[in-house]
Amino acid sequence: MEVVPLGSAAEIAAVAADVVEAVVRRKPAAVLGLATGSTPLPAYQELIRRHQAGIGPGYHDVTCFNLDEYVGLPPAPDGGVHAQSYRATIARELTDGLGIGPDQVNGPDPGPGALPTAGERYEALIEKAGGVDVQFLGIGSDGHLAFNEPGSSLASRTRIKTLTAQTRADNARFFGSPGEVPTHVLTQGLGTILEARHLLLIATGEGKAAAVAAAVEGPLSASCPGSVLQLHPHATVLLDPAAASRLDRLAYYREVYAAKPAWQGL
Ligand code: F6R
Repeated sequence: MEVVPLGSAAEIAAVAADVVEAVVRRKPAAVLGLATGSTPLPAYQELIRRHQAGIGPGYHDVTCFNLDEYVGLPPAPDGGVHAQSYRATIARELTDGLGIGPDQVNGPDPGPGALPTAGERYEALIEKAGGVDVQFLGIGSDGHLAFNEPGSSLASRTRIKTLTAQTRADNARFFGSPGEVPTHVLTQGLGTILEARHLLLIATGEGKAAAVAAAVEGPLSASCPGSVLQLHPHATVLLDPAAASRLDRLAYYREVYAAKPAWQGL
């Protein structure tokens, strides 16, 4: 795992955008794994800014896979998908701005009749696309990765999960009231996520410091799903000063990044 302590969310956004752009330039039909939530937004905005300024790559041939999706959201008043569904969120926050069409973006299918088979169908789609090249990840304040809450099997596959009270409280800011946050989600499993070729975890803010320390320096444990990154051969963790503040080896991570060979990249 490569832990990269950076100076600000803006610096993280630039580095994350560099990583994604490098993948798409090398492989125009790249498969991008997308996370929702607040953390990746500066990186998504930076990708859109560069694309619209004409200095980013073209995204016409990419395929995207969302990490997860709420189950049980009512339809929007116009009959479309709920504004807080992750399908709508990813379109609004990233893919529309990059000119990536809805047919290029996949998400787990939360339709009520579809739930029993949604996991295996989603896994089959990812496999058919050749697997994910670079996977954006955030981390929950309780250590969850995607919506694999503490206790999730480190080998888990895409399936339905129940959100913890902590996660529902954390996500209440996106809804009119805490009671509107769905109790269930479909999420890629930890075993699914581990199959992506490059994991790019971003964490910002003090509220993530304990979860980051447990994931990066704690024991590998289902009690901290984020710790599964320790098993991945190519995991990059981009942190702002607050999120990095509880790491014991922080000085060493800084030294490593400062001395990183230029040819190596992230
Ligand atoms: C979102 C996801 C979640 C979030 C996590 C952090 O697709 O899978 O694991 O990454 O809940 O959310 P934020 O970034 O809002 O703090």
